[in-house]
Amino acid sequence: MLNYKSNKGGGPTVDFEKAILDGYASDGGLYVPEYLPKVTHSDLNKWKSLSYKALAFEVLSLFIDRSIVSAVELRLLLDECYDTFEIKEVIPFHQLETRDETYIMELFYGPTLSFKDVGMSFMVNLVNFFLKRKSEHLSVIVATTGDTGPAAAHFVAGKSNLDAWVLYPKGLITEAQERQMTTLPHANVHPVGVFNCPEGGDDLDVVISQLYADDAFKNKLKLSSVNSLNWGRIMMQTVHYFYGYLRIAKEVGAPVNMAVPSGGFGNLCAGGLARKMGLPIHYLVVANNQNACLNRIFTQGVFSKQPIHETVSSAIDILVPINFWRFLYFNVEGDTAKIKEWMETFERTGQAIFDAETMAEYRKGFLSKSISDEQTLKTIKNVFDEEYYLLDPHGAVAVAAADQLKAQLGGHPMICLATAHPAKFPETLERLLGADQMPRAAMHPSIEEAKVKCQKNYTCHYSHLHTALKETMNTHWDLHHPA
Ligand SMILES: Cc1ncc(COP(=O)(O)O)c(C=O)c1O
Repeated sequence: MLNYKSNKGGGPTVDFEKAILDGYASDGGLYVPEYLPKVTHSDLNKWKSLSYKALAFEVLSLFIDRSIVSAVELRLLLDECYDTFEIKEVIPFHQLETRDETYIMELFYGPTLSFKDVGMSFMVNLVNFFLKRKSEHLSVIVATTGDTGPAAAHFVAGKSNLDAWVLYPKGLITEAQERQMTTLPHANVHPVGVFNCPEGGDDLDVVISQLYADDAFKNKLKLSSVNSLNWGRIMMQTVHYFYGYLRIAKEVGAPVNMAVPSGGFGNLCAGGLARKMGLPIHYLVVANNQNACLNRIFTQGVFSKQPIHETVSSAIDILVPINFWRFLYFNVEGDTAKIKEWMETFERTGQAIFDAETMAEYRKGFLSKSISDEQTLKTIKNVFDEEYYLLDPHGAVAVAAADQLKAQLGGHPMICLATAHPAKFPETLERLLGADQMPRAAMHPSIEEAKVKCQKNYTCHYSHLHTALKETMNTHWDLHHPA
């Protein structure tokens, strides 16, 4: 049986169900599988013509023991996930005309219009399935830079065994993103807009960690996470790398590059792990905006925190790419003592420096670029003017990074991950293209509908978030779950 343990080495080894329901490992580390399953070229050849859903079944079966989720149950869970996606194939591709063999992987056809839907739909269904089986209730708490929150809120809405507390930095996400959370009428969804977050979304993670560290509170409310701290999200995100590769590669084994707009490194951690499992991706491109912690890690070997820049690709305005620690575990032969020491050094000093051997190992198969707002906007405008295709600011960061690294990428097919629908960023696009030039692709009916709905949310100042949120969550729990 494939079990899970903390990348920091503390706490017990747990089975898949516990790893998913806990979210965080008990020592504050991130759960990792005890070993990475391997995929052969013969497996990949068999999977080449599978639908996204059928492929997800095969990939997830490598991680989930049948004694925990049977094949029938896994199929049913996956069947329920993608009904609300706008496109039956779940993830379509668009080939750009003005670049050689460059494909946009459109990951934004879920109900909240970002790639988070692809993984979150399954993740929430799975958690709810476990909870129903145990007749238990969980409170999930999620911090968002604009896309995880709507996805978590949408999929938790109306599920009787779950509550979702969704924290977002007020003013640092778009109104369209905010309304995706605040216009849901369901009683188990609690959006909390937080004013004055000096470091953006990262501040919210600090408060969530404090709540987690409070054992009495955590146990009473049964706190868990569906952020990409949760292994389930990473596991699920490996699937779209397999899918992308198998759709675009001319044959199994042929090199394909993938460029990924990155902030917390959840998505790319999944890509890196898919490659380690045996998926022959040539290069993965780490596409950062000006908040370039990942770029410093991949070019200088330094994990360091610097002041935040507010950018047009706001969902990747992330200072601490937490999932890099999870990926690193697989590059140091599972040496949890090393991971613990680096993580603690970073928490204490704001910086961790990796030795040359470690850096050489984790950099294998990665290239990295930090893209300025000017370059992002120029890329959106050029692609729109030249071929009437509208990128969102995050997909544009990926395309810009791929353009800049072209000489090093070896002329192989390139898949750029478009992680959000342009309709989530109307202000930026209107400013760039002009209000009278906005194409249909810049709008979406769900965003338009949300503009004329009532909003329901809590608001709070960051300076007293910890105390205020704890009190609100406690009161809510006592009212709805009397002892
Ligand atoms: C639109 C969009 N693109 C990219 C990312 C970055 O993903 P990750 O944090 O997994 O690197 C996010 C995450 O918040 C996002 O919302």
